Amino acid sequence: MTRRWMAAAVVLMMAGMNGAQAQDYPARPVTMIIPFAAGGPADITGRIVADIFSRYLGQQFVVENVGGAGGTIGALRAARAAPDGYTILSGHMGTNALAAAFYPDLGYDVQKDFEPIGLTAEYPELLVVRKDFPANTLGEFVTYAKANAGKLNVGHAGVGSVSYIGCLLLDAAIGIKPTMVPFTGTAPVLNAMLSGEIDYECDPVLGTLAQVRAGSVKALAIAASKRSPMLPDVPTSHEQGLGEFDCAPFYAVFVPKGTPKPIIDKLAEALNKGLGEDAVQKRLADLGAELVEPDRRGPKALADLVRSEAARLMPILKAATEK
Ligand code: MLT
Repeated sequence: MTRRWMAAAVVLMMAGMNGAQAQDYPARPVTMIIPFAAGGPADITGRIVADIFSRYLGQQFVVENVGGAGGTIGALRAARAAPDGYTILSGHMGTNALAAAFYPDLGYDVQKDFEPIGLTAEYPELLVVRKDFPANTLGEFVTYAKANAGKLNVGHAGVGSVSYIGCLLLDAAIGIKPTMVPFTGTAPVLNAMLSGEIDYECDPVLGTLAQVRAGSVKALAIAASKRSPMLPDVPTSHEQGLGEFDCAPFYAVFVPKGTPKPIIDKLAEALNKGLGEDAVQKRLADLGAELVEPDRRGPKALADLVRSEAARLMPILKAATEK
């Protein structure tokens, strides 16, 4: 056999193996990397998705929380995993669209190293302050923050996380540079705020919903143009004259580049079916999510969203960072 024939035979054999593997997929438990700490928005959303996959694909999807560096440590691990469908990533707007704005040596390329599976949910962010913070409206917050910026501690889930991005937009709009304190997720940020170590954070609404309702922290603004039905008394940033504070991160599923198409199709179909269930829609709506309508589900819509969000937000983040 000539070299060329041998190479062709190997390619055919691999394709056959991939086809067989894809047909049986998933034949064993799958690891779903969630690149933030347990208990926060990424974790809560990722676990809903893991449950959908487990139910529709008949295998366990086991969550592994890999926090650090704004989610890029977990995302990098997923990007470098074998592209066989057994390691998948529940990422978001930070890890999978905007991280390169903050990390010149990221180690992965959001476009080239991942295949999109589908969008899960979008949530507007909330500006939340500790209970005894001396402001009860966004206007009062701005006045206080301008006078005391040097004393303020902002909690976030690492540079490039969506909690970092939200408060970056807020702080740039106000013109302040407070101390940014990184954590591995916003669940530990919330604990730090409850114990008074952190003054404020910007987190997708589900992260602090229960504590806002219980009155153990105060929500001063929702970073959107319309109020959240889950917190109808919290005014929007737009209503309060600070429309630049507008941030509704997406959460979505990705697999390493090179994952066989039949596996991508199986995952996308399962996610699509799960997101169509009444119980899943109710759960997500109760968390304050914007539901993903059928025309926005699946790999193509997510690929478009990653591209359009990167194009829209990169210049805004660059300008905010330079302010
Ligand atoms: C979390 O789950 O901790 C947050 O969604 C992470 C983030 O702020 O990006």
